[in-house]
Amino acid sequence: MPATPRPSHWSSLNVFLHWTIVVLLVCQWIEGEFMSDFWDATLEGRGVDQTTTVLGYGHIVIGTLVLVAAALRLVDRFVSGRPPHDAADPTWALGLAKVTHFLLYAVLLAMPLLGLAAWFTGNDALAGYHAFLWNPLLALVGLHVLGALAQHFWFRSPALKRMIPGLRHG
Ligand code: HEM
Ligand code: HEM
Repeated sequence: MPATPRPSHWSSLNVFLHWTIVVLLVCQWIEGEFMSDFWDATLEGRGVDQTTTVLGYGHIVIGTLVLVAAALRLVDRFVSGRPPHDAADPTWALGLAKVTHFLLYAVLLAMPLLGLAAWFTGNDALAGYHAFLWNPLLALVGLHVLGALAQHFWFRSPALKRMIPGLRHG
């Protein structure tokens, strides 16, 4: 069977979802602690102030949006394909990027699923696993951003430009 031809760019949907997920994760970072208070109060059956309630439910909605956006990105990646890697990127860096991307998707799907499972079952252990994944996610994002900057400034490949709306068709 002939291989599907690879597109020269990421789809607009994929780029949009990439940056949407970044914004949603910043929101989760800002209100994560409110969710912790909201969760403890819910388990203990006590009330919390209005800000904690709103940000707690906001955490659930935004986290679920991350789940939907990450799943959609994966579907789009298989349907539309991903652009080929540039020859300027060394093989070792591409291997590292592949592992990082795989783990990023895994955590982006696992975190909200664990959070939802904890919420709907009232299971504190699941909530603990959920919260535990936050630091590995931050480490992966840090590595990923360093990689994107290295591709741009060190290897001088077009990977970063392809992910930036406005620059990517240049
Ligand atoms: C990718 C999406 C999500 C991210 C990045 C995220 C991130 C976080 C962070 C940073 C905390 C605070 C941890 C702490 O301060 O100790 C937290 C707590 C929590 N989140 Fe999420 N969250 C996401 C999605 C969800 C969803 C969809 C739910 C569903 C209800 C949820 C439920 C919870 C619960 C129950 C806690 C309290 C955990 C505890 O204190 O043990 N999260 N989350
Ligand atoms: C919360 C932060 C972020 C997350 C979770 C994230 C996640 C991802 C994932 C999973 C991919 C792989 C796409 C695929 O192979 O299907 C990707 C691609 C990419 N990301 Fe991010 N990203 C984040 C932030 C950033 C930032 C801040 C930059 C820029 C400095 C960036 C630049 C890129 C680039 C250039 C690609 C394309 C790589 C390629 O063409 O091989 N990302 N991102």
